[in-house]
Amino acid sequence: MGRASRDPYGVSAAPKPGGVSGRRKNRPRSERGGGGAPAEDPYAPASVSGGATVLAPPDHFSPPPPYSPSVSRASHKLDSILHSHLLALPAPATVLDLGAAPGGWSDCIGHYLSCWPGGAPPEKPLVVAVDLLRHPVPPALHQFETHQLGPETAARLPGILARQSGPLYAQLTHDFLTLDLALLPKPDLLLSDIAPSTTGMSSLDTDNQNQMALRVLALAEASLKRGGSAVVKIYNAGDRALLEEIGEVAGRVFRRVKRVKPRGSRGESREMFLLGLGRR
Ligand SMILES: C[S@@+](CC[C@H](N)C(=O)[O-])C[C@H]1O[C@@H](n2cnc3c(N)ncnc32)[C@H](O)[C@@H]1O
Repeated sequence: MGRASRDPYGVSAAPKPGGVSGRRKNRPRSERGGGGAPAEDPYAPASVSGGATVLAPPDHFSPPPPYSPSVSRASHKLDSILHSHLLALPAPATVLDLGAAPGGWSDCIGHYLSCWPGGAPPEKPLVVAVDLLRHPVPPALHQFETHQLGPETAARLPGILARQSGPLYAQLTHDFLTLDLALLPKPDLLLSDIAPSTTGMSSLDTDNQNQMALRVLALAEASLKRGGSAVVKIYNAGDRALLEEIGEVAGRVFRRVKRVKPRGSRGESREMFLLGLGRR
């Protein structure tokens, strides 16, 4: 365990070779949970090995047309994060969406992938959604070729990927904790809005959520492409040692780590999102 820090995440205390951002003055309103237009974020995308960077620095950045969530309220959160933080994505991009049902985040990222850069659809984007529950194909992904694979057929994914000739949406109805990593393509962007089943005991539920976040970070370390990014749901509460461990692991895996409270996340909720930028 690392040294104690006033930051419950240990993010500020994490090693900083590439710069790990902790609290920062003049944060965008959306990070502070307020409303209003997103402020420009000075973050320039981390370099991505192979492929062009789609999400360009602010002066070259063409925001997509407004996104109108229709699948779940949760998609407001990802939309807010994507508007405030320029996450590096190559073209074509591969996105892994963990805890995807009912499909709000998949819908949101599908919208973005169809819009960048400057309206030209990136070549052959791939969104792989994993959830215990099966969900209908979200509207923004209707133009993608879709494969819905249950636990017994998930092994077909590598074959489907090998034949991929256009935008692809692969939905795996599977527990991500027992998914064979070798089946998954290496993502450029890892999204996790996973929420384990609740017990009704607040402190236990909080720690379960953060344990899950650690498992997601382990998956990021094992599979994310160099330069890739992650958005991972955590709870800003509970066992401090666990929060510090999350910060330490994130600082080891990513060049920059931020935590954000996006619009759409209730102010009174302990929910926050860890952004890992630039997989080392
Ligand atoms: C808050 S919901 C996700 C909402 C989604 N991001 C959206 O925008 O519609 C959390 C999801 O995590 C899923 N989940 C929980 N544990 C899981 C696990 N071990 N493997 C896969 N999915 C899991 C639940 O089934 C649930 O659908």
